[in-house]
Amino acid sequence: MSLRIKNKELEILIPESNIKSRLKSLADEIRKEMNKNEEIIAIGILKGSFIFFADLVRELGSNIKIDFVVVSSYFDKMESSQNIVFKKDIEVDIKGKNVLLIDDIIDTGRTLKALVEYFQKKNPKNLKTCVLLDKKERREVNYDADFVGFEIPDKFVVGYGLDWGEEGRTLKDIYFVK
Ligand code: IMP
Ligand code: MG
Repeated sequence: MSLRIKNKELEILIPESNIKSRLKSLADEIRKEMNKNEEIIAIGILKGSFIFFADLVRELGSNIKIDFVVVSSYFDKMESSQNIVFKKDIEVDIKGKNVLLIDDIIDTGRTLKALVEYFQKKNPKNLKTCVLLDKKERREVNYDADFVGFEIPDKFVVGYGLDWGEEGRTLKDIYFVK
């Protein structure tokens, strides 16, 4: 029996073991480029990033503080941070801090670009972005994440936190919907 969501078949794209090993090298890249021993404020974009976030921050080791945002994923045609609708903003003060914004996937790029513009106004010392997955072909705005786990083709993916209509988040591997 094949795995299905909403009666569509799922095909494996990235197995759990590949994710786990990539997280180690990704954490090394991040620690090398952000100031090695200084505190990092890791901000997760809910809900899709929750599993990636939990695994990555543990690979990053000590001297990490965490916070989360919840934003509405609907944007109108104007590409400005005015259009971000926060359902939950951060609670920590990021002024003068090293900040790492973490999301599951960058697709059109609108979410990350708008959040970066918003957080830059709070004057962090350093603001970097990290995503597990990058659908480069789908970009609609001029923005790339600083750290990327895997580049993937233009396919709808689920698992490891990512959902399709709230289904599939707890799958351990990443699948595409056939
Ligand atoms: P962007 O603003 O278009 O870059 O959208 C990013 C958000 O869209 C991500 O945080 C995901 O929540 C969602 N998303 C984009 N592609 C997928 C996918 O293939 N599976 C699940 N969620 C996706
Ligand atoms: Mg998301």
